[in-house]
Amino acid sequence: MLVLGIESSCDETAAAVVESGVRVLSSVVSSQIEKHKPFGGVIPEIAAREHLSNIGLIVNEALRDAGLKLADVDAISVAQGPGLIGSLLVGASFAKGLAFKADIPLIPVNHVIGHIYGALLGLADQDVISKEIFPVLALVVSGGHTNLYIMNSSVEHRLLAHSVDDACGEAFDKVAKLFGYSYPGGPEIERVAATWQKELIKMPKMVAKKSDLFFSYSGLKTAVMNTWLKTAPESRGSLIPQLAASFQEAAFDQIIRKIKIFFESSLTPKSILVAGGVAANKRLAALLKTEFPNTQLLLPHPAYCSDNAAMIASYGYFLAKEKGLEPFRKNNDWSCFSRYVFQ
Ligand code: KG4
Ligand code: ZN
Repeated sequence: MLVLGIESSCDETAAAVVESGVRVLSSVVSSQIEKHKPFGGVIPEIAAREHLSNIGLIVNEALRDAGLKLADVDAISVAQGPGLIGSLLVGASFAKGLAFKADIPLIPVNHVIGHIYGALLGLADQDVISKEIFPVLALVVSGGHTNLYIMNSSVEHRLLAHSVDDACGEAFDKVAKLFGYSYPGGPEIERVAATWQKELIKMPKMVAKKSDLFFSYSGLKTAVMNTWLKTAPESRGSLIPQLAASFQEAAFDQIIRKIKIFFESSLTPKSILVAGGVAANKRLAALLKTEFPNTQLLLPHPAYCSDNAAMIASYGYFLAKEKGLEPFRKNNDWSCFSRYVFQ
């Protein structure tokens, strides 16, 4: 089955064609980062207008790279939320129009859960279907979410824990901003933290109680900020590597501790999957490998950590495989004024 994926939930316009949920035939991502940089964050109105001018080109490029025409595709999968409403509307409306024109099913999917499928891309199809990896303990660690799910099959996702304040990636971005780095700050923090191999600054141990099954990053962010502000301005530059490394270790310590709690629980996960922008961090991958040496770790290729449409196409495929394409055909039954339901 060939699925065309469309993603426009934040500041990336993306389209991809994926075969059988795991084989990427094409993946095109157009980032708007440069457009938003002068403002220090994503401006929703600019994002929506950029999606509007790019989406046709990006979808055409994805079809061309895959050597296909729209008529060759079996279904279209689109990120329907969460995200910026104006941006989502561009992708959803475009996908809706294409599906209507080609008379093929439209599969709306959740963007955050979509990240999980980024880690399944490239796996042999049978690995996923044969259930050898299930139950999967799946962590989506991105700029907006720190969500931990248990998956008993490729389409079941039960939320176990989520962030109650700043998400992990958001904390990386805010700490990076404090140090004077531009958005997204995660890669900069990773780079500078890797240069520090000596003693770490003690950070508060977040969500230390086992019974607290949530993630929290605002306390850690504030602790970094307080250390920064207490340091004389002329000494701050030389403090950055140590403070970045101390922050990063504390941020990942919370993730490892939380995974351990669920790993040792009655859920009996067989594998651990980490997805989303922060999954690109090599220190996180190294810590997971050290802490869970005998467990299959599913980590996305760097190209599928941050927002992309291949993960959206893959999620659409697994939904269609489970339910069949028929339930999604009714999504084509719109008049041009019909409402689109966002989750
Ligand atoms: O998944 P994503 O592209 O967007 C959301 O859906 O939020 O994630 C972006 C987040 C940003 O906060 C960015 O700083 C973080 O992922 N990130 C990283 C790294 N690369 C991206 N955080 C830590 N280390 C990295 N190497
Ligand atoms: Zn995302």
